[in-house]
Amino acid sequence: MENKTHFPTHQDIYIKSIKKLFLSHFSDNIPLAVVKTYGCQQNFSDSEKIKGILKNIGFDFTTDEKKADLIIFNTCAIREHAEDRIFGNIGALKNIKKEKPDLIIAVCGCMTEQESVEEKIKRSFPFVDLILGTDSIYHLPQMLYSAMKERDKIIVERGKSRDIIDEDIPTFRGNKLKASVPIMYGCDNFCSYCIVPYVRGREKSRAPESVISEIKELVDKGYKDITLLGQNVNSYGKGLGEKINFADLLKKIDAINGEFWVRFMTSHPKDASFELIDTIAQSKHICHHLHLPFQSGNNRILKEMNRHYNRERYLSIVNYAKMKIPDIILTSDVIVGFPSETTEEFEDTLSLIKEVKFSSLFTFIYSKRPGTPASKMEDKTSKKEKQERFRRLLELQSSISDEIYREQIGKIEKVLVECASPNEGKLTCRTGGGIVVEIKGKKDLIGKFADVEITGARRCNLLGEVCGD
Ligand code: SAH
Ligand code: SF4
Ligand code: F3S
Repeated sequence: MENKTHFPTHQDIYIKSIKKLFLSHFSDNIPLAVVKTYGCQQNFSDSEKIKGILKNIGFDFTTDEKKADLIIFNTCAIREHAEDRIFGNIGALKNIKKEKPDLIIAVCGCMTEQESVEEKIKRSFPFVDLILGTDSIYHLPQMLYSAMKERDKIIVERGKSRDIIDEDIPTFRGNKLKASVPIMYGCDNFCSYCIVPYVRGREKSRAPESVISEIKELVDKGYKDITLLGQNVNSYGKGLGEKINFADLLKKIDAINGEFWVRFMTSHPKDASFELIDTIAQSKHICHHLHLPFQSGNNRILKEMNRHYNRERYLSIVNYAKMKIPDIILTSDVIVGFPSETTEEFEDTLSLIKEVKFSSLFTFIYSKRPGTPASKMEDKTSKKEKQERFRRLLELQSSISDEIYREQIGKIEKVLVECASPNEGKLTCRTGGGIVVEIKGKKDLIGKFADVEITGARRCNLLGEVCGD
């Protein structure tokens, strides 16, 4: 695939023009933007690009909507509940706009890639100035310029999924230790319940050189915990000119000098290979953490979900990982109440959870997404029954998490000291497996790796003491 650069070249012209427009509007003040992000890490990473562009234009950031000159909502469409909440929050901007007619309101991200959402925004929220789809971030300066010039019109650019990747969009990172690096965009899997392939377009991988040089730069700047992002990182490399898979990319990243961790999400079990597990086992920098969503423990449901693996295949990968990497921390996503799931089929999900023992789970009740194949399937299970299944799931997972956390007591763990804890005199750290550990210690430890002995376990975190203290 060609790796053309679209930014800043012609968008630079708009950046200059917007600066002029803003200067005439807000001559004494630096314009302020709110960028509010919903959804997954991919969206948070996109927001860092949106902020990078806005910073170039001259914006500073605030979380106070009343102070803002520009408000951007970067939205998520994964479940109905997420969308409803976001519509509610857009609605609440009406009064702010009334008080401050110069305010520009933009809605971007996954929700906007649905035609029905564009129509609803136009109908119910006419005060929105700009709608921008997921593959149009590089166009933000130009679109913002149009929105400022044509105040009585809504500017829309969506549905523009392209097969190129914009490599040169500036990134404004909110954290000095942890960074996300997208290695691929989009999704080709079409799980029958999921909206992502419709709103994020087809899979495209970044060239390995771009990924490597970004990570080298981050390591040089002192970043310590780097997360590689993709909806299905295991299919990395598809469509690239050279023959490279995800394990190959990880090996190249592992060869970078420096003291840092690398983790990745999300892995799809259908493409997770034994080679991947071997690569983690032999690596220096890759965390012993595997987030491997299983969604259901029942083979009929997995087939209906179009997941392309079965329970046995899932367990074989997990068991291989446990054998090769005995301290591996496993986490996963699971959906309860997929259309036609029976109580017995749900119990297969419970038995898989008991068998694998995940340290934590992201648990979801199935949500109907218009346009997906599952939305046309018959769904007779009552909401009450689904909630009861959900309750049983949470109860089971909570006891397993407690058990796994207790098992950590007495172990020596390498942690990254991330920040001061809200508890006076304490510091918040994270293990390679992503578990939070609170330790006593001086603030000069922040940003460093430390070996700690785990001394206690609470509901959501561990307690530890720095070794040798
Ligand atoms: N690409 C990732 C998941 C991205 S979405 C993967 O395949 O693993 C994150 C999680 O949201 C999914 O793993 C799934 O558990 C959940 N999810 C997606 N669509 C959903 C829906 N319609 N209803 C409920 N949960 C859903
Ligand atoms: Fe959705 Fe499946 Fe793609 Fe994940 S792999 S984003 S669940 S379609
Ligand atoms: Fe949501 Fe889009 Fe991520 S739908 S979960 S923000 S890819």
